[in-house]
This record gives sequence, structure tokens and C-alpha cells, in this order.
Amino acid sequence: MLFVTKPQLKTRIYPNDPVRLPKRKNIALRVLTALLIMSVALFGLRHTSKISFAGGLRAGCHKQHRNISTPRNTLPSYYKLPSGDHIPSVALGVWQAGKGEVGNAVKTALKAGYSRHIDGAWIYRNEEEVGQALRESGVPRDQVWLTSKLWNTFHEPQTIESTLDDSLAKLGTEYLDLYLIHWPVATMADGNPDLGLSENPYPTWKKLEELVDKGKIRNIGVSNFNIRRIQNLTANPLKIRPAVNQVEINFWFPQPDLIKWSQENGIIVEAYSPLGSSKRVGASLAVPEVKEIAAQLCMTPAQVIISWHVQRGTVVLPKSVTPSRVEENFQVRALPQDAFDKLEMAATSHKPERGMKPNKSWGVDVFG
Ligand code: A2P
Repeated sequence: MLFVTKPQLKTRIYPNDPVRLPKRKNIALRVLTALLIMSVALFGLRHTSKISFAGGLRAGCHKQHRNISTPRNTLPSYYKLPSGDHIPSVALGVWQAGKGEVGNAVKTALKAGYSRHIDGAWIYRNEEEVGQALRESGVPRDQVWLTSKLWNTFHEPQTIESTLDDSLAKLGTEYLDLYLIHWPVATMADGNPDLGLSENPYPTWKKLEELVDKGKIRNIGVSNFNIRRIQNLTANPLKIRPAVNQVEINFWFPQPDLIKWSQENGIIVEAYSPLGSSKRVGASLAVPEVKEIAAQLCMTPAQVIISWHVQRGTVVLPKSVTPSRVEENFQVRALPQDAFDKLEMAATSHKPERGMKPNKSWGVDVFG
């Protein structure tokens, strides 16, 4: 008896005690009930936290792939530019985001908070609504990354500052985080191309450098430039090198060589039409490899593609005016290496097909 522990002692001494037996049953019942309540509460907590964290989890998927939430496999949430600024890796693209819907999309993106990066342009004709949404969101300006682009008709140095001022006024801000030459196309007032300025935009660039010095722009870059055109520009005695090149990149037009070259040359590539734009988004989301990986990892096909972009080292600019999709598109996670390789292989082993065709009337062989 000396070596018997307390619970055993109780069992041994009171096995048939008429008073104590119901009490013990009672306790056991209470413990069981408490356990049941705790497990129900725990299940509920897990369920709701998944929903609020990953609004875009596939229906019926309550489990995330173990590999994709470990810190080792976390995707970069930003890239560092030569200025020292951190550009968020996932943005809301607002090209083709119409009036009356773009503001709501911007507010949703800012509220989602994962990445407060809005990629716009003067020519999208929605900067006013974007600006209003920014103000209404109440998010401080320094917590938002704002990009705009200089349209083709304003490349002449004397027209640049007033165009920039117009964008600043519409957006309701005193500075842009990033300003890009939208296309390597300079159009003159009569509508004809200025082939000299299109080929060598150094005068345009010098003016942009001046506006950086003035504090109206923090970083400058280009868009729709191929390697030859970037080299043409950087052959000039630049004070500031292009930090970014924004180009079309998606499953159908993956541009691995441009990405590799840009990474070797310290230029961040931004991917527009990352889902294939409205014309090819359906086809992108139905790619067998994308669907298979999405099912394996409990992600949506769009999340798989957006994650793939960031994992390739690019900034990704998915456009959506649908609030649930805007939230979904910010939920990026690293794909396991084999899934990434499979998708990369699928994207780069078919004939690349550009979706964005520059307007022939511009009179410049843009990609030449
Ligand atoms: P919507 O704006 O109506 O939500 P891209 O980013 O390649 O330019 O593609 C934009 C197109 O993809 C738009 O038609 C947009 O529709 C659609 N889209 C954006 N996000 C998603 C998503 N998560 N799932 C399905 N379609 C999406």
C-alpha cells in the first residue's frame, strides 16, 4: 500500500462506495463535456482563421500544404530598389478597371493590407477614382506604393512635368513611388511618331531624373522595353538607372530570358497581364498543371499562378475589380520546388504568344 499512488489508492479504497461513485461519474461526465466543448471551439477557431487569412482557399479545402507556410518557403513580400525603397511584390493592377468599380477594388486591396501597391497609369483614365479611394481608405500615404506612367504623347521634356502634375493631382498625392515611360514610343503633337526620341529617350529620361531630384517621383523605370531598348537607354550618361521594366508576362508569354537578363543587370521586372488578361484568364486557370498544383496545395489556380510569378522574382500586377478576387490574389505562397519546376516547364515549353499587341498606328516597331 505504501507504494500506491493517490488515484490508485482512491480506486482501491472506494470501489463500491455508494456516495462517491455517482460523484466520480459526475466528474467524468463534466470532463467529457468540457473536452467536447473545447474541441468544437478549437475546430471553429481553425475554420474561421483559415477563412479570414486565406480568403481564397479552394472551396472544401481546409488544409494548407505544410511546405507553403514555413518561413523557409515564404515568398518575398517586397524587392529592394537601388534607391533603397521596398517595392511590394504583389500589386493591384488597374488597367481596364472601369469607372465605378476601380475605387472599390482599390479600397479592398488597401484593406486586405497584405501589399498596398496600386499600379496605374495616366492613360487608364481612372486616376481620379483611384485617388478618391485612397483618401476614403484612410490609409496613410506612406503606407501605399503608387505607380503611374508617362503616356506616349508627353515624352517631349517640356510636357512631362505638367503631365506628371496632372496624375499627382488626380491621385491626390505629392509624389509617386514609381513613374514609368509607358512605351518606347514618343508621339508628336501631329500624331506622327518621333522616331529619334522613341529610339533614344535620353531627353525624356533626363527630365524624369530632374523630377526625382525635385521630390515628385521616388523611382523611375520603363515599360514594354526589350533588352535592346534598355541597352540603348543605359548607353547614355544616366544619373539614375531604370529601376524597373514592366512588361507582359504570363503562362502564354513567360519571357524567361528577359527576366534572367534583368536580374543580372539589377532591374526589377514587373509582370502585367499575369493571368493572361481578360482574354486568356480562363485558359490560364484551366492549364492542367495549374489545376493539378492548385488541388494538391489547396490553393486556387489564380493563387498558384500569382505565386509562380513572385517565385520567379518578378513583381506581379493582377487586375481585378471583384473584391473576393482582389483578396484572393494577395494570398501568395511559395510553391514546393517540384511544383514550381513543373509549372515553369509547362509555361516555357510551348510557343510564346504575346497577348498585348501595340497599336500599329503608333508607327514604331515597339519590340524590334
Ligand atoms: P475581374 O476584374 O472581373 O475580377 P490580368 O491580371 O492577367 O490582367 O487578368 C485580369 C482578368 O482576370 C480580369 O478579367 C479579372 O476579372 C480576372 N481575374 C482576376 N483575378 C482573378 C481570380 N482570382 N480568379 C478568376 N479571374 C480573375
